[in-house]
Amino acid sequence: MDPNKPLILLTHELPQNWVGSLLDGYEVIVGNKNERGIDRGLIKYLERVSGILCLLDDPIPVEILDKSPNLKVVSNMAVGVDNIDVAACTKRGIPVGHTPGVLTEGTADLTLALLLSVCRELPQASADAREGRWSNWDPTGWLGKDLKDATVGIVGMGKIGTAVAERLVSFGARIIFTNRGQQPDKEKQLNATQVDLDELLLTSDIISLHVPLTDETHSLIDEAAFQKMKSSAILINAARGAVVNTNALIRALKEGQIRAAGLDVTNPEPLPPGHSLFDMENCLVTPHIGSATENTRRIMAEIALQNLDAGIKGLPLTHCVNPEVYD
Ligand code: GLV
Repeated sequence: MDPNKPLILLTHELPQNWVGSLLDGYEVIVGNKNERGIDRGLIKYLERVSGILCLLDDPIPVEILDKSPNLKVVSNMAVGVDNIDVAACTKRGIPVGHTPGVLTEGTADLTLALLLSVCRELPQASADAREGRWSNWDPTGWLGKDLKDATVGIVGMGKIGTAVAERLVSFGARIIFTNRGQQPDKEKQLNATQVDLDELLLTSDIISLHVPLTDETHSLIDEAAFQKMKSSAILINAARGAVVNTNALIRALKEGQIRAAGLDVTNPEPLPPGHSLFDMENCLVTPHIGSATENTRRIMAEIALQNLDAGIKGLPLTHCVNPEVYD
C-alpha cells in the first residue's frame, strides 16, 4: 500500500471499464461482494480511509463514522440514502453523495413493466402456457385489468413518480397523486389531481409508491391503509420495501383485501427463499432491479466515483444530499 495516496474503500467491486481512470491517484481497497456494509476484515483500514463508495444495501451507521477519523466523503451508488446515517455525517461535516436523475427513466420503465405484468397476470399466464394449462382459446381466461380509464394513485410525485405518471397518461389512465408540497404545475401538465393519502387509497384502482424511505414514510402502507383500498386494487412498489408493512401486505393479499401486488423492493431484502410473498400467485417480486439497465448502472457508477473524487479533494459534490455541510 502506498501511504502517500488517499485510501478509498469500495464496498463492492465495479467493472474496470466503468471505473476507467477515475480512481487513478488513489489506493483502493474493495469489499467482498457477498457481504453487506464494511467487511469485518476491512474495519482495520477505516482509520486511514478518506472516502467510502457504497451501495444501497450497505449500512453506514455512526459506528463506522466513529472508526473513520479521516473520512471526507461517503458516496452512495443510488439515489436513496436510507442506508446511511446522513445526520451523523452532517454533524461531522462529511458530505454524502448520491446519483439522482440518471435512474429516473429506467426505474419508471421497470415500474410500468411490473404494473402491466400484474394487471395482465403475465406470470400466471406464462406458467399456465408452459405447464399444459393452455387448451382452447378461452373467452374468460386470464382476464386482466384495463389501464385505460383506470385511476392510478401515485404516492410521491418526484422525478420517478412524474416519469411513471407521464407513461400512464399515454395508456389512458387518470392520475391522482400525493406529494409533500403543492404541485399545480404537475396537475396541469398531467391533467392530474393532487389529493390526500386517504382519498388516494380509497379511490385508486392501482397504487404506485415513489417516496423515499424516511421516518415519515416507514410503514406508510400499513394495515389501516390496506383497509381503505378497494378489494380490486393493485399495489406497485419500486421505492423502498419498508414503505410497506410486510405482514399487513401478506394479510391483504391472502385475505383478498387487495387484488395483487408487484414489488421490486421488499422488506427484508433480499427476500429469503420460501418467503410467503413468493408463494402467492397474486404477488410478483423482482430483485430490486429498477435501475438495472446497462447505461443507467454505468452512469450511476461514474457519478458515484466523481462524487467520491470531489469529496476527497474538498470540492463540492455534484449531487450532495446534505449541502449544509458547506455552510
Ligand atoms: C435505487 O433503488 C436507488 O435508490 O438508486
